[in-house]
Amino acid sequence: MSSALFSPYKLAGLELANRIVVSPMCQYSADDGCANDWHLMHLGMLANSGAALVIVEATHVERHGRITHGCLGLYSDDNEAALARVVHSARRAGTAKFGIQIAHSGRKGSAQKPWEGAGPLQPEADPWPTSAASPIPFGEGWQTPREVTEADMERVRNTFVSSTQRALRIGFDEIELHMAHGYLAHGFMSPISNRRTDQFGGSLENRLRFPLSIARAVRALVPKGVPLGARITGSDWREGGLTPDDAVAIAKALKGEGLDFICISSGGVAAGIHNPTEPGYNVAIAARVKKEAGIPTRCVGLIVKPEHAERIVAKGEADMVSMARCFLDDPHWGWHAAKALGADVARPVQYARAGPKLWAPAAAKA
Ligand SMILES: Cc1cc2nc3c(=O)[nH]c(=O)nc-3n(C[C@H](O)[C@H](O)[C@H](O)COP(=O)(O)O)c2cc1C
Repeated sequence: MSSALFSPYKLAGLELANRIVVSPMCQYSADDGCANDWHLMHLGMLANSGAALVIVEATHVERHGRITHGCLGLYSDDNEAALARVVHSARRAGTAKFGIQIAHSGRKGSAQKPWEGAGPLQPEADPWPTSAASPIPFGEGWQTPREVTEADMERVRNTFVSSTQRALRIGFDEIELHMAHGYLAHGFMSPISNRRTDQFGGSLENRLRFPLSIARAVRALVPKGVPLGARITGSDWREGGLTPDDAVAIAKALKGEGLDFICISSGGVAAGIHNPTEPGYNVAIAARVKKEAGIPTRCVGLIVKPEHAERIVAKGEADMVSMARCFLDDPHWGWHAAKALGADVARPVQYARAGPKLWAPAAAKA
């Protein structure tokens, strides 16, 4: 039986062993943006998960562009050195390629870590002023962000460029811009959070102007063979918000800026909006984007079972599947999916006695 999920894929110049991607997952455990031993353990574990590609969590372009005090950054030499140590070690120990998600939190910044409440930082917890497309808080009790000026846009765009330069120096195989989940770029795109009356608000074309300028500036420095893409929202899941039609238009616009792929996620634009809970809730949107925008597409969101992931790729609904929580639950998810689908994956030599060599005799005796 040949598996679509375990078939190789070439994304720009990057050869991937299969279609499985570990989705970026904030660990809220960094020290002033610097990765540490937690990240070494976490990414080292995921490097041997069977996924062809592991995307490092949202990594922020400036200190005040982080979500929490524990979020990763690439805004200092210390950040760069710390992440380089972790990624080089994880890569040496594992089989996966590594990508990174570059981000700015916008009005969702200055937040508590999930295990401290996930709300806005309280006065005694060293909060910082946030900025966003419009001075509208994310939800009740959240700060009112300062409206981003054109000078701010230039500064933030430059920080996206310098963080990407740092990522390229570290040697990441792939770069993903975070343009989803209600953070700064998505906040500009969505009419729910962008009420500007200048050339950056109003029509979709205007709302895309700043995010597209980031994509353009970053594309100008990322070498052609290194895949550069964006995670965007497939739907705001709220009347008056971004829709799958908009996702197609956004994907086309980003493709026009030379991006190599799109990852379809959704939700997160404002407090109190809940994503659907059915498995693969973004798949139909990703399938539309792939077909109508004609760009390599990955999708994420409650894809948990190997057979489901296999079907998505086999039916051509997405080129890659991105998964988050199931890899925390089972860090060898890719190995076990390969077993279920009659495929195999690369393993480190130290673990070669597991996998088929273990199952075959055990199965014969059962
Ligand atoms: C602990 C955790 C941290 C996350 N951090 C990020 C992140 O840094 N960037 C991002 O785009 N999504 C982040 N997400 C969302 C996931 O990447 C993914 O889109 C979401 O969990 C749905 O996929 P799943 O159903 O496979 O978990 C995070 C999710 C979890 C559970």
